[in-house]
Amino acid sequence: MKLTVVGGGSTYTPELVDGFARLRDTLPVEELVLVDPAAERLELVGGLARRIFAKQGHPGRIVTTADLDAGVDGADAVLLQLRVGGQAAREQDETWPLECGCIGQETTGAGGLAKALRTVPVVLDIADRVRRASPRAWIIDFTNPVGIVTRALLQAGHRAVGLCNVAIGFQRTFAGLLGTAPADVHLGHVGLNHLTWETDVRLGGPEGENVLPKLLAEHGEAIAADLRLPRPLLDRLGVIPSYYLRYYYAHDEVVRELGTKPSRAAEVAAMERELLAMYGDPALDEKPALLAKRGGAYYSEAAVDLAAALLGGGGSPYQVVNTLNRGTLPFLPDDAVIEVQAAVGSQGPVPLPVPEPDPLFAGLMANVTAYEDLALEAALRGGRERVFRALLSHPLIGQYAYADALTDRLVAHNREHLAWA
Ligand code: G6P
Ligand code: MN
Repeated sequence: MKLTVVGGGSTYTPELVDGFARLRDTLPVEELVLVDPAAERLELVGGLARRIFAKQGHPGRIVTTADLDAGVDGADAVLLQLRVGGQAAREQDETWPLECGCIGQETTGAGGLAKALRTVPVVLDIADRVRRASPRAWIIDFTNPVGIVTRALLQAGHRAVGLCNVAIGFQRTFAGLLGTAPADVHLGHVGLNHLTWETDVRLGGPEGENVLPKLLAEHGEAIAADLRLPRPLLDRLGVIPSYYLRYYYAHDEVVRELGTKPSRAAEVAAMERELLAMYGDPALDEKPALLAKRGGAYYSEAAVDLAAALLGGGGSPYQVVNTLNRGTLPFLPDDAVIEVQAAVGSQGPVPLPVPEPDPLFAGLMANVTAYEDLALEAALRGGRERVFRALLSHPLIGQYAYADALTDRLVAHNREHLAWA
């Protein structure tokens, strides 16, 4: 099996490689190709990746290359984990929206739109090249904003599935709190990428006992503290929102906080410098503990699980993925991309039926789906007015004066990445 990681020079890659090494019975990778244009970084990351495989006795070969077409040639699956413009562009996304009193976040709100506009054309070009080199390869997209990028890929007819670690993170946390194995915890997970709610938590599978009320009763404080939301709010919602919902439910509070501290991008950039220095040490042969301070915990396990299921080698029977709605949530268009539990096999994911969500959540899903649609239009066709329409439609923006001011800033800060600007 050949697996290719585009954006393989990411400081996150050792997390992925560690997962491939530990879970080699689930996913027997024979060749792992790390593709990245940043040669120096790629060598540091590639060196550590080889030492991790060697230490764990993994027989697979690790190849590093800047040549995308060669890297994806003959691949069974291609993982996309790139960041157009790097942490510098992220820093901008997190900063200029604050000038307008709006949250600055890499995937949510105006910053997320900027990221979508920079990213969608690049990812579509990569996917076309994957299709030419390996028409049967599955594309697993970790590249944010995952909902919009996955929709772009599926609309262009690619064999793609979007993936995020929010659900697997909840599964692991809840399993810990309940004192059971993660595989025993089945989440009722509904929404769009970075806009999801856990509506139930079942033991043993989709038909198992719902222990969400018990979880909230016994561990509500800890869960709320983790999400940085008030405990009573969780009881009032009756579900557990992902931490991205804090940008909605506590928008103004978050704006105030963001105004008083360095951006997450700056924090991450500092961590990346430290990580790269560690990766250069030939004595290091495992993923360093510092990596756990990044948001991507468990993403390697989600990736292994999904790739194994898509490539016909096992994996968990149900997995939370980003895929076409196709009637699962009847109040959304069939071609919307939703994030739900799906049965995954070699033909791709098939969403499990989802109980009708409370209008409190369905309304926001519908609104953000419309935004994602307009965002994709803007990413594919460009133009200031399309950017404005996407921003105006976003539930965290909504007013024309904000949408205009944000459009000006988005265009000004992203000219080098936008062909039309
Ligand atoms: C979570 C999200 C990812 C996001 C990451 C950011 O893992 O699911 O989509 O990229 O957090 O983490 P960072 O350490 O870069 O802030
Ligand atoms: Mn994510």
